[in-house]
Amino acid sequence: MKSIAIFASGTGSNAQNIITYFKNNPDIYVNCVYSNKENAPVLHKAQQLGVPSLTFNKENFYNSDLILETLKNQNPNIIVLAGFLWKFPEKIINAFSGKIINIHPALLPKFGGKGMYGMNVHKAVVANKETHSGITIHHVTKNYDEGATIFQEKVALSDTDTAADVAKKIHNLEAKHFPKIIEDVILNKI
Ligand code: GRF
Repeated sequence: MKSIAIFASGTGSNAQNIITYFKNNPDIYVNCVYSNKENAPVLHKAQQLGVPSLTFNKENFYNSDLILETLKNQNPNIIVLAGFLWKFPEKIINAFSGKIINIHPALLPKFGGKGMYGMNVHKAVVANKETHSGITIHHVTKNYDEGATIFQEKVALSDTDTAADVAKKIHNLEAKHFPKIIEDVILNKI
């Protein structure tokens, strides 16, 4: 069996889609949802879908080896950041080199970097009068949003789209592509 560890901080619509996508797959499953937020809605979603979860604080994550050792024990084939807002520690990146991927709700390298998450991204896209936005699935390195791109997909924007409209379009793209791209990465197809 191949396994997926998901890290998420918020709503968890991507986590939910990923768990559901692999639910009946005999070879690949989500073994744990990790979150830095005790009350994040993603934890409720994981519980409802029967996936174990683990929460941690800054001390556990950065100054102890608790999460690193837990991950080493579980030994996931891939670590997926799905709306995870903290910087990933270098020691975990080094231990799982090439196996950590993130989804960013814009077409990197545009609209990436510190502070560019959630609605901030979509507001910036609208303010910049972009004709397109999209998603970028990329490898995780020690700098925010800078790892090699695995997959990008664009969506057209109209000049009346609000940031909320853009968010909806991006969530649709994420739902359509992210689980399948994760599967392809696990199966070494891309
Ligand atoms: C998504 O738009 C994702 O691209 C970004 O954070 C958002 C998380 O949404 N990294 P959700 O928690 O999966 O609903």
